[in-house]
Amino acid sequence: MSLLSVRGISKRFPARRGMVDMLRGRPKLAVHAVEQVSLEVFRGETLGIVGESGCGKSTLARCLVRLHEPDAGAIDFDGADVLGLAGPERRAFNRRVQMVFQDPYSSLNPRMTVGATLGEALMVHNVVPKAEIPRRVRELLDLVHLMENAAERYPHEFSGGQRQRIGIARALAVEPSLIIADEPVSALDVSVQAAIVNLFMELQDRLGLTLVFITHDLRLVKHMTHRVAVMYLGRIVEVGPTAEIFAAPRHPYTQALIRAVPQVKPGRRSGEAAVMGELPSPLNPPPGCAFHPRCPVATAACRETVPGLEARGGAWDVACLLAG
Ligand SMILES: Nc1ncnc2c1ncn2[C@@H]1O[C@H](COP(=O)(O)OP(=O)(O)OP(=O)(O)O)[C@@H](O)[C@H]1O
Ligand code: SF4
Ligand SMILES: [Mg+2]
Repeated sequence: MSLLSVRGISKRFPARRGMVDMLRGRPKLAVHAVEQVSLEVFRGETLGIVGESGCGKSTLARCLVRLHEPDAGAIDFDGADVLGLAGPERRAFNRRVQMVFQDPYSSLNPRMTVGATLGEALMVHNVVPKAEIPRRVRELLDLVHLMENAAERYPHEFSGGQRQRIGIARALAVEPSLIIADEPVSALDVSVQAAIVNLFMELQDRLGLTLVFITHDLRLVKHMTHRVAVMYLGRIVEVGPTAEIFAAPRHPYTQALIRAVPQVKPGRRSGEAAVMGELPSPLNPPPGCAFHPRCPVATAACRETVPGLEARGGAWDVACLLAG
């Protein structure tokens, strides 16, 4: 059963134009950050969203929580039309869907103790009566395996991994139904990444959370997600059960990504999604299938027709004219 259902979401940003462009009357351009994305998030699952840098993962996440207003499309959360929510209903939605960001330091107030930060989240949303806040703060710290005395300390006294635990505790404070984590471990040392990933998995299991986990690291996706959506230039090109897709990817882009995983390229972030050739500019995405300039099996039709995300005779959806 779907908790969150996304239909045809698009988001474009106006591109900055130089003076010369303006004087010469060159047309305004837009970054096609998210194009026609449809997606289901099922209750209790971990859904991975993966793709190269700039493919629109964060923009999509921000549209889902209305940090960006999409230009088109609809979002349904637990039966409610998210883009139409206002007043108390919007506040209830803001409570039920929480985001965890890549850099927990910039999202924590450096002048507030951890206890005050968590207490504030509890107070804003009236989660527990005031008198119970200290007890609830202790429970939250315990849930993310931080010492009780963390409540009296300030963010700078913690390591990156511990700070991410605080960020997770703050998200959990309001008892959300859905957590959207945008690259929550990519700023951390490889040695602490596994501990945070395991914490997410443990919490998901214990609390029955629904989790959207955004990452450029395919190894994390394989390890911890039930289903995965692969993005390319703002679109989802393949979505389905993680184990099955890793065993037999159907989209040429997914195939290339999975093949590229074991190669450690100098200068690349570990496990980063990367395939041959340059990623085209989202200012001017190629016509037809946006992957065609890099696709080893592209045909003439691929330059003209945008492939829809469909089952195409298989067990999960893929956006490739040659699939099936
Ligand atoms: N606020 C903005 N204004 C203008 N352009 C933006 C804005 N946010 C994102 N973009 C552009 O939209 C595209 C998608 O960016 P986005 O941050 O969603 O990608 P991403 O997949 O999260 O990348 P990364 O892996 O680097 O985090 C990029 O070309 C980016 O430059
Ligand atoms: S539609 Fe064509 S270009 Fe696009 S992935 Fe499939 S074969 Fe390649
Ligand atoms: Mg991002």
